[in-house]
Amino acid sequence: MFDRIRNETRARPGWLVLPLAGLLLVTAIGAAARSAQPAAAAGSSLRQAAEAKGIRFGTALIATSNLSGNATYMATAAREFDAVTPGNEMKWGTVEPTQGQFNWTGADQIVAFAQAHNQVVRGHNLVWHSQLPSWVNSTNFPTATSVINVMQQHITTEVTRFAGKVIQWDVVNEPFNEDGSFRSDIFEQASVNNGTGPSGYIAAALRTAHQADPNARLYLNDFNIEGVNTKSTAMLNLVTSLKSQGVPIDGVGLESHFILGQVPSTLQQNIQRFVAAGVSVWVTELDDRITLPASAANLATQANDYASVVRACLAVTGCVGITVWGFTDLDSWIPGAFPGQGAADLFDSSINPKPAYSSTLTALGGSMASPSPTPTRTPTPTPTPSTPPGSVTATPVVASSSPFFNEEDLKLANTGTVTALTVTIVVQRTTGISFSGQYNTVGGSILQSNSSTASAVTYTFTLASGQTLGAGSGRVFAAQTSGSGTAHPTAGDTFTVTATSGGATTTQSGHF
Ligand code: XIL
Repeated sequence: MFDRIRNETRARPGWLVLPLAGLLLVTAIGAAARSAQPAAAAGSSLRQAAEAKGIRFGTALIATSNLSGNATYMATAAREFDAVTPGNEMKWGTVEPTQGQFNWTGADQIVAFAQAHNQVVRGHNLVWHSQLPSWVNSTNFPTATSVINVMQQHITTEVTRFAGKVIQWDVVNEPFNEDGSFRSDIFEQASVNNGTGPSGYIAAALRTAHQADPNARLYLNDFNIEGVNTKSTAMLNLVTSLKSQGVPIDGVGLESHFILGQVPSTLQQNIQRFVAAGVSVWVTELDDRITLPASAANLATQANDYASVVRACLAVTGCVGITVWGFTDLDSWIPGAFPGQGAADLFDSSINPKPAYSSTLTALGGSMASPSPTPTRTPTPTPTPSTPPGSVTATPVVASSSPFFNEEDLKLANTGTVTALTVTIVVQRTTGISFSGQYNTVGGSILQSNSSTASAVTYTFTLASGQTLGAGSGRVFAAQTSGSGTAHPTAGDTFTVTATSGGATTTQSGHF
């Protein structure tokens, strides 16, 4: 059944060698996942249905508290998906924030989760202009040779470390501008300067990755290359040119961050032309964003969008996998990156399946497990409680504290339903610091805004009208800044949380 993806899965052996700590972690995770697993019916999960069609169905995972503390999140990730991509944990800025000092914690956690659940790992990514640590800049590496050398060292270290555990790599991410020209980042500039032309670094990166793990499948990944257009034609020309030079290139990743109702009609045709050029195609980062609040009609359109992507992939042998960029609105990147938009995923922020889940499963040829028989006994009615009062605990966490990229998070846990909430985080605008972004892992209709003055950046999160938050924990409200100035937190980086639960309003404040 895995005909299409035999080559993509050949790095799977060797999973059983796990460090003890990882083993304990995955054992705990495995137990949580198994206990929540419904009775299996043929094709009653996305992964089962996809495997019956010979493709893989994956998700991005973020190594936050959800991956070790939210049993429903872990059980769903394990049950529905057979491929995993770390959302941020394998990026250069995460793994090597300082030259020569590596942090593999998040990446290892995700790899351990995948191994425990018989999932393959897509490595994302090795070379990208974004989320690049500040030490990698042309001032530190003034010659073209030194830039390309540092790139190759990074690739060799990371690919070697995960050899046998990561089946395929996005070796270069987002190399093109919208008009099909090469993006002018430090790698492209270096290869123009060393006489290998704008794609010289791409060939060098692919060759280096292949040397470090000859079994890994090597991909180039980009957005807005899903339909037939100038940018996808540029990618196709690059692939053809690399192949003619004997450069190892196995696949192209179509990110597929779609806007509701705008899946390109030429998706299948475009996949076909890449496959005809001799590479596999993987839909690598699928989501479908909606301007909030999402209506029932929006969710129905979204269901069509997801199904049409599945159909286009299944129609072309050589389209070997689909990965969604997060499976739940709980920890989607969309509200942070596109303020006012969200609800882009297969499951809602309470991890209940949305219409897009059913349409995706159906398009894969599966069907929902039959519901358990209706009980015949009449249940004793229980009185509906009025909203119970509950404690609300706010905990400040410094998630990242280098001068280049700072993230100060407020973590919220509440034992009763919260009916009104305002979270404010103030970050001092020290020299060189600028606004970078904000996000919450609560998802749904949380409203986000920010404002800044010469002295501070203020981030605000509030519940939308009518929105409530049931009891829960590990919810993250994140404030990000970037820049080359003072390391944060500094004195004056503060938070204030005002929450109403059970009719009582409490305010908590403090500093990072
Ligand atoms: C995004 C992550 O999901 C966010 O958490 C992060 O803040 C920014 O990057 N294209 C890519 C992904 O290739 O790496 C990006 O992931 C989304 C766009």
